[in-house]
Amino acid sequence: MTEPGITKVHPLPAVDGLGDDEIAALYAESAGDGPWVRVNFVSSVDGAATHQGLSGGLSDEADKRVFAILRRLCDVVVVGAGTVRAESYSAMRVDAVSERIRSEAGMTPHPVFAIVSAALDLDPASPIFADAPLRPIILTTESSRPDAREALAEVADVVVCGRDRVEPDVLVRVLNERGLGRIHCEGGPHLFADLIATGVLDELCLTISPRLEAGVASRISTGASPIVPVGLRLAHTLISGDTLLLRYLRR
Ligand SMILES: NC(=O)c1ccc[n+]([C@@H]2O[C@H](COP(=O)([O-])OP(=O)(O)OC[C@H]3O[C@@H](n4cnc5c(N)ncnc54)[C@H](OP(=O)(O)O)[C@@H]3O)[C@@H](O)[C@H]2O)c1
Repeated sequence: MTEPGITKVHPLPAVDGLGDDEIAALYAESAGDGPWVRVNFVSSVDGAATHQGLSGGLSDEADKRVFAILRRLCDVVVVGAGTVRAESYSAMRVDAVSERIRSEAGMTPHPVFAIVSAALDLDPASPIFADAPLRPIILTTESSRPDAREALAEVADVVVCGRDRVEPDVLVRVLNERGLGRIHCEGGPHLFADLIATGVLDELCLTISPRLEAGVASRISTGASPIVPVGLRLAHTLISGDTLLLRYLRR
């Protein structure tokens, strides 16, 4: 399959036919030495975060290309358990090219997989754990079931980050203390809303898929809301055919 052409149209000058390294460079900058929280979503033009219950139906080759590059750049991929279950996540692995590039840059060959869950309805025998190149992390609550915590502790590092819910600021601190400061969150909508409401978000990478879904699909964030809406600055716009790939930074 030929690679989907991606063009940068903002900021000017426009650059056509971006290579993976050029795309990675567009996403590489972050502020200072502290932790950086990046979130990635795809949405239809009318705001649906899913097609028939999954994000995959909204995605295209350009979105998948950027999705893979974002995994290449991070120390840890954080995902809410609802998304892990809905999207049938497997072990967290990048492709061979990304593995090489990461190793050359002094990073672990693959990012660590961190799952956020209070219910701990996760199977310790799942490939997420059995095939993991690096020991995953479960970020959970004090009120979670001790037996489930104990079972999952056999296959992952289980870390309590709050009483009844995982507090996003604790999540960021815990991961940063483990040297996992480049935090990349792949959703889903409830976890994203918590990140927004707690003010830990630094960046949103949003693919706008050229379609209208109507229906009752969730938005990309749903649930908790901040007292004041979080203002964003458009860092760049990429296009591929009719698909928009936007990078926003928190103001
Ligand atoms: N368009 C996209 O790019 C995109 C991206 C991701 C997901 N999605 C879609 O979104 C849907 C899933 O939505 P969702 O809102 O359920 O996803 P989610 O935010 O990943 O899952 C919610 C679950 O994650 C855990 N969780 C999230 N925040 C937590 C917190 N602060 N503390 C403790 N646990 C927390 C809880 O798991 P427990 O129930 O285990 O306690 C909660 O029930 C799926 O259909 C998926 O396909 C779309």
